[in-house]
Amino acid sequence: MKLLIKFAINQILLMGENEVITILGIESSCDDTSAAIIRDGKILSNIVAGQKVHEAYGGVVPELASRAHQQNIIPVVDQAIKQAGISKNEISAVAFTRGPGLLGSLLVGTSFAKGFALASQIPLIEVNHLAGHVLALFIRENGVEFHPPKFPFLCLLVSGGNSQIILVNDYLRMEVIGQTIDDAAGEAFDKCAKVMGLPYPGGPHIDKLAKTGNPEKFEFAKPRVPGLDYSFSGLKTNFLYFLRDNLKLNPDFIDENKEDLSASLQKTIIDVLLSKLKRAAKETKIREIAVAGGVSANSGLRTTLQVTADKNRWKLYIPKFEFTMDNAAMIAITGYYKYLNKEFANQKVVPFSKTQI
Ligand code: KG4
Repeated sequence: MKLLIKFAINQILLMGENEVITILGIESSCDDTSAAIIRDGKILSNIVAGQKVHEAYGGVVPELASRAHQQNIIPVVDQAIKQAGISKNEISAVAFTRGPGLLGSLLVGTSFAKGFALASQIPLIEVNHLAGHVLALFIRENGVEFHPPKFPFLCLLVSGGNSQIILVNDYLRMEVIGQTIDDAAGEAFDKCAKVMGLPYPGGPHIDKLAKTGNPEKFEFAKPRVPGLDYSFSGLKTNFLYFLRDNLKLNPDFIDENKEDLSASLQKTIIDVLLSKLKRAAKETKIREIAVAGGVSANSGLRTTLQVTADKNRWKLYIPKFEFTMDNAAMIAITGYYKYLNKEFANQKVVPFSKTQI
């Protein structure tokens, strides 16, 4: 009852012009525990605690990830509130990642957010992780010029778990017009890096090695998938067999060629990503193009995108590096727009693991 009254008061306040909207965002979909505070669309804090425990296994171990989230969530939220310089009572709503992601990890953030909302008697907002990656483009920062994309725009969302082309009609109206039918681009980077003996996550290592390698040295299989969809599992298998065959002839093949292997692999992934993006831009006649997700940190992808944008007269939007990786600021900004639209969740909400937008 008390919660209902507080909720009703909040709804009335929402209509007031001078309401300050302060959102606590919680992200726990994979192996980063993150909390952020966004006030009226502007970032006040964004704390991310990574999990080194997975490095020894060459990939994220779901059971270990959820345990680490349990340990990290309270200190991370505490730090986010302190760094924002606000008190807990000033938070208008708590937004959390509902999915997609690892279920055990999502449960930690979801349960925490529910408990926080209930105890503070504030609304709860569920956020789709993928929409969060897209809306990271709308995070405003003090003292930084703000030039967000104009609707409608296309967003190439490339992360460890997803590769999609999204038609973004509005903050809360998005349509997936192309997506991977198997592995994601980040997965291709990470899995190929693993067979080369590089640490997890391999994407940034491939990026670094590729800088001094020859991208034309080796040729790898490019998928033939109809429409705007992607596929990366064939490339991974092709890369694995290519290494296996060459290692038979020369046991030092990887060591002697790691820069060229990285550059050639990276070029193949970028070519695949860009060919479908160009097609999507042509079909939709949209020239506002954005990129989001962890793989958008890739320097080769950024450069190629810029060259392609100049050639095709696209206006290109790339989020700041810290907002491309998993973080709670992107969840809080999505929560902010959902708050404005009065889209609240109830205490019965449960996480989902599979991709949906
Ligand atoms: O968005 P993100 O932090 O997590 C997911 O939501 O999946 O993306 C993580 C992915 C990993 O696969 C990682 O290897 C990749 O982003 N990544 C990169 C680079 N930095 C991160 N891939 C290629 N080049 C990079 N510089």
